[in-house]
Amino acid sequence: MSGRLFTPLTVGALTLPNRVVMAPLTRMRATPPGDEPNDLMRRYYVQRAGAGLIIAEATQISPQGKGYMDTPGIYSAPQVQGWRRITDAVHEAGGRMCLQLWHVGRVSHPAHQPDGGQPVSASAIPYENRTTVKGPDGRPQRADCPTPRALATEEMPGIVADYRRACENAREAGFDMVEVHAAHGYLLHQFQSAESNQRDDAYGGTLENRARLTLEALDAVIAAWEPQRVGIRISPLGIFNGLDDKDGLEMGLYLAEEFAQRGIAYLHLSEPDWAGGPAHSAEFRRALRAKFPGVIIGAGNYSPEKAEDLLQKGLIDAAAFGRAFIANPDLPRRLQAGASLNVPNVKTFYGGGEEGYTDYPALG
Ligand SMILES: Cc1cc2nc3c(=O)[nH]c(=O)nc-3n(C[C@H](O)[C@H](O)[C@H](O)COP(=O)(O)O)c2cc1C
Repeated sequence: MSGRLFTPLTVGALTLPNRVVMAPLTRMRATPPGDEPNDLMRRYYVQRAGAGLIIAEATQISPQGKGYMDTPGIYSAPQVQGWRRITDAVHEAGGRMCLQLWHVGRVSHPAHQPDGGQPVSASAIPYENRTTVKGPDGRPQRADCPTPRALATEEMPGIVADYRRACENAREAGFDMVEVHAAHGYLLHQFQSAESNQRDDAYGGTLENRARLTLEALDAVIAAWEPQRVGIRISPLGIFNGLDDKDGLEMGLYLAEEFAQRGIAYLHLSEPDWAGGPAHSAEFRRALRAKFPGVIIGAGNYSPEKAEDLLQKGLIDAAAFGRAFIANPDLPRRLQAGASLNVPNVKTFYGGGEEGYTDYPALG
């Protein structure tokens, strides 16, 4: 297949050789107890170095930001060293790599929190669902998320400082870029949504107030590096992790305008329909494009055809593929050749070893 997917794209400080981006994918294979990136992860990412850009899995910015078993961090020296070995190897293989900065907020469990404490959020409203903890056999086991503790106003600068430090660490670890994870019902999204945010300070109430923490975190990251090295992911209307934003589209457009003013490298739109949410309308896509003239990466149930259509219409500039990249380390090459795709095995998405991780075959 030929088309715009296989043309270069400038994204902030980088030039991508193609527009087939690897979406951030949590795989829960970091080494406990320090949540360190390891050789297995290095092999997995090196196999996928043909992506226009690899956006590495969501990575906690602090011990408090952790919500699942064996997800990697970017706050300790061994984590930075572990990531450095990965980015060096990906660069050697000709790739480019971005790190997704993550704080899960209330989607957590005392088992993951420092000193077994209560997870934090915008308000003391629980995510009525489960996360994963280590079971007796060492395998992930589902556990209810308890009611979180509302962050005090005085704690907000500390959260913002964690984003800044995580960005500094990512830079030291050799990443080419960072992406702020402001989507999918995690901490920043919990502040954005009136459903999970019932605060009466400067971080709650009006839409602008609910967007404040997202923008403060973004500004801290930009200040730690430069806007051309920073992207951000949002999921307007996404129903992930228990949120059903009433004003999600309005929030998305407001944030897009704010992002544009900051001249960041890209806006990553995580579209809701792959996970049971509604598909974005053409009208919303056009409105988003009008607010954000920079690079938009679309993700969520993309086929090459959907990607080409939206690229042709100028509504996105690149497409990120998630599950297809899990099962096809050489996805860009396969798409370009029109080759058949390996089918991902859902059972090995989260946790485990090489199986369903580094053993998917590339084309002969
Ligand atoms: C196993 C798995 C892990 C994921 N982990 C993350 C993540 O860490 N951060 C994130 O923003 N999205 C995450 N997502 C969402 C993907 O980035 C992507 O938006 C989604 O899979 C839809 O794209 P697809 O239809 O091409 O798979 C994950 C999805 C899957 C299936």
